[in-house]
Amino acid sequence: MDIARFSIVNLLLGISFLSSGDCNLVFKVQHKFNGRQRSLSAFKAHDMHRRGRFLSAIDLELGGNGHPSESGLYFAKIGLGTPAKDYYVQVDTGSDLLWVNCAGCANCPRKSDLGIELTLYNPSSSSTSNLVTCDQDFCTSSHDGPIPGCTPDLNCEYTVSYGDGSSTTGYFVEDRVVLDQVTGNFRTASTNGSIVFGCGAQQSGQLGATSAAVDGILGFGQSNSSMISQLASLGKVRRIFAHCLDNIKGGGIFAIGEVVQPKVHTTPLVQQQAHYNVAMKAIEVGGDMLNLPTDVFDTDLSRGTIIDSGTTLAYLPDEIYEPLIAKIFAGQTGLKLHTVEKQFTCFQYNGNIDDGFPDVTFHFEGSLSLRVRPREYLFDIDSDKWCVGWQNSGAQSRDGKGMILLGDLVLQNRLVLYDLENQTIGWTEYNCSSSIKVRDEKSGGVYTVGPHDLSSASSLRTGRTSVVLFILMLTMLHSFTN
Ligand SMILES: *[C@@H]1O[C@H](CO)[C@@H](O)[C@H](O)[C@H]1NC(C)=O
Ligand SMILES: *[C@@H]1O[C@H](CO)[C@@H](O)[C@H](O)[C@H]1NC(C)=O
Ligand SMILES: *[C@@H]1O[C@H](CO)[C@@H](O)[C@H](O)[C@H]1NC(C)=O
Ligand SMILES: *[C@@H]1O[C@H](CO)[C@@H](O)[C@H](O)[C@H]1NC(C)=O
Repeated sequence: MDIARFSIVNLLLGISFLSSGDCNLVFKVQHKFNGRQRSLSAFKAHDMHRRGRFLSAIDLELGGNGHPSESGLYFAKIGLGTPAKDYYVQVDTGSDLLWVNCAGCANCPRKSDLGIELTLYNPSSSSTSNLVTCDQDFCTSSHDGPIPGCTPDLNCEYTVSYGDGSSTTGYFVEDRVVLDQVTGNFRTASTNGSIVFGCGAQQSGQLGATSAAVDGILGFGQSNSSMISQLASLGKVRRIFAHCLDNIKGGGIFAIGEVVQPKVHTTPLVQQQAHYNVAMKAIEVGGDMLNLPTDVFDTDLSRGTIIDSGTTLAYLPDEIYEPLIAKIFAGQTGLKLHTVEKQFTCFQYNGNIDDGFPDVTFHFEGSLSLRVRPREYLFDIDSDKWCVGWQNSGAQSRDGKGMILLGDLVLQNRLVLYDLENQTIGWTEYNCSSSIKVRDEKSGGVYTVGPHDLSSASSLRTGRTSVVLFILMLTMLHSFTN
């Protein structure tokens, strides 16, 4: 039995576990990758075996935008059940599970300010749904073995807690997920596969709120329980996906499959981490390297830097944050900085911010870099009022260091490619309103996939809610237990 020990300090630490009132179970739903690499290599072997037979490229329709003072999130449309209904789910590379709000759910949002229509999934109105019981493989393999007190009539329950303190509880069901397979240039056809996902029975915190409400969360993590891993083990897709989040127009591109164009530079994923972690080596501000202690890029909670599309901003430990901010404002001595909403450093500025502030470039192993422009790391909350997107992750770990987490703030307007087969991640600056080319393994064809913006037809962009800064943090981190 695992008990999460430490406090959830404002945002970064999430603890995931399963619990069941019926049989007094408390256990983790997310894998700890420590010592579990064999399952990954088993997967890879499995994928290789399947590759080239009937693997589809998938085009997911995206909506939303990463502006912190609007919704701050990106969501995709997927179909579930037979007959299939549409669900809007936040895409989150920081967690593993797909779940949607279910019929009979307590405290689930019924309306959304994003201008999308919310739908509750009802297993009993889908002819292909099956409840997952606690003795089934999915349930036991999501944990460290058989579940104590399990009898075959008990559902497999779960609770996931996210970094913003919100949580979701429910039970697992198996049903068809319906996606758009790429079949030609700008052309798709429906495809489906049977996967296990969470049926949300109770939400708490922001997950119950109407502002920015979606039907659920689509975790794109690499554990066995994620949708992409399940579809790969069915031989439906390769374990490669890419996103191009468009914060200029909203929406963007989200595709599963090999991206042929644009080409990206890559860096290896740090092994045995619960997230997509990469090794940061240095930070450059306006052409000068920050002078940082060499051990600052790893903490005992996380080796390396977490790449997380489910988080809006970017988080840096005190040891990086302080010198970074000092360097950014070094050329602007006359500015008056003040704090908004107790957490944002803001200031008045009426010039061109790209001229007034330096670029920040992160350098990663394998000579991959990420150059972030002032217009990307500063966001406006009012005319001439700007706030800094870099956040101080404080000291949340046992060794007193906060973690490094890069969210949509820096991932936007880039094609980011996650190759789980080769264990690399890479990116390149890209116009997310243009198109990319993916390979369809089934036909061998290379096809163009264009952008989508699910929200452009909605009432989302009716103006800024400038004062209320709503930041969704959906980083699910591994449980730390003794
Ligand atoms: C899933 O695919 C099968 C085979 O193509 C098809 O017969 C079925 O109608 C599809 N189901 C859904 C829900 O789209
Ligand atoms: C992951 O899934 C594969 C294939 O379904 C299975 O063989 C393996 O045991 C699973 N790994 C874990 C850790 O559950
Ligand atoms: C993965 O690595 C292999 C071997 O290095 C290489 O041939 C292949 O092109 C890589 N795959 C992708 C998608 O880059
Ligand atoms: C991005 O691509 C779109 C579509 O091709 C084009 O209309 C737009 O001008 C491009 N934006 C930039 C900045 O190049």
